[in-house]
Amino acid sequence: MTLPQLQELKEIEDKAKTELAAVSDEETLEFWRITYLGRRSRLNLILRGLASLPLEERRQVGAAANRLRSELEELLSQRQAQLREAAVTAVVEGGHLDVTLPGRPLTIGRLHPVTQVLRDILDAFVSMGFQVFEGPEVEWDYYNFEAVRIPKDHPARDMWDTLWVDYVRNEEYPMLLRTHTSPMQIRVMEQMQPPVRIVSPGKCYRHEATDPTHEWMHTQVEGLAVDENISMADLKGTLYEFARRLFGRERRVRFRCDYFPFVEPGADMSIDCPLCDGQGCRACNNSGWIEILGAGMVHPEVLANVGYDAERYTGFAFGLGVERVAMLRHGIEDIRLFYANDLRFLEQF
Ligand code: FA5
Repeated sequence: MTLPQLQELKEIEDKAKTELAAVSDEETLEFWRITYLGRRSRLNLILRGLASLPLEERRQVGAAANRLRSELEELLSQRQAQLREAAVTAVVEGGHLDVTLPGRPLTIGRLHPVTQVLRDILDAFVSMGFQVFEGPEVEWDYYNFEAVRIPKDHPARDMWDTLWVDYVRNEEYPMLLRTHTSPMQIRVMEQMQPPVRIVSPGKCYRHEATDPTHEWMHTQVEGLAVDENISMADLKGTLYEFARRLFGRERRVRFRCDYFPFVEPGADMSIDCPLCDGQGCRACNNSGWIEILGAGMVHPEVLANVGYDAERYTGFAFGLGVERVAMLRHGIEDIRLFYANDLRFLEQF
């Protein structure tokens, strides 16, 4: 005796095939698909009910239902292809297709404004004899803090609100997202002997509230020069030349004393705000100046930490904020625009 489900499958098959032969457009075809292959189709209900059948029935009905599903799917894709082909033929033969029309232009991508400015910054330093080195964004506590004279529990750690990485739960060797590019000073000096003249670009992360000049992720370029007789004059000369190349002669540059545990003496450098011409506005926090970098003479203990002879060698280092340079260059008021992914903004560069 034939099982009732097998009988029903035969009916579904006959009906589906007859209806498919009459389908003449994509909309009806979609309706057909939903009726015979959709989630609530009779075929699907049979398939879903298989689990409750006795073993032998399940085997027979399952095989027949799956065979029918494959067959209907195959017929569906054949019919789709036929309808599409017929539609194209109709357009071409009906004279509706003008193959001489110019194509639609492709949207051409571009480099992000921060990448563009980063390249200009690196070009400026490369032309002054610096080499480019890149390093990891996920960093050991040792390189980010310990080796640059910021031991555990030192209050200077508060200057960099840190995002910790939970990958290796190891109290002794904690991991973090680097808060600055200064760990690259150590990584580079571990690998090479003086004379050293490098710049190291990359992203840095800080767990801090955002405002017009602060993002939780920003790009820095670290600079490091170590040799005999390097002095503060070399540091200032290099950074003045960099500012002149990036911003032109008309912008003013300001150095002030600042504290960083890994330099002595330390300084920061600001550029007068081009948005208000130094008068004070939202972008410069009403000070007339925008700080772009921290710098100083490499602390002798940092040199000694990597095995350099601190009696013989001296060096300067700096860490500059690339987004800040891009803001100054283009007169952008709010750093958050760079990473808001708004094409109306990005397409201007
Ligand atoms: C530092 O990160 C030091 N490592 C710089 C340094 C290097 C000093 C070598 C001495 C020697 P600071 O936290 O000030 O310093 O950051 C350096 C620059 O990065 C700032 O001047 C600023 O331009 C940029 N910057 C810092 N925090 C942010 C932020 N949240 N958003 C955008 N730019 C930032």
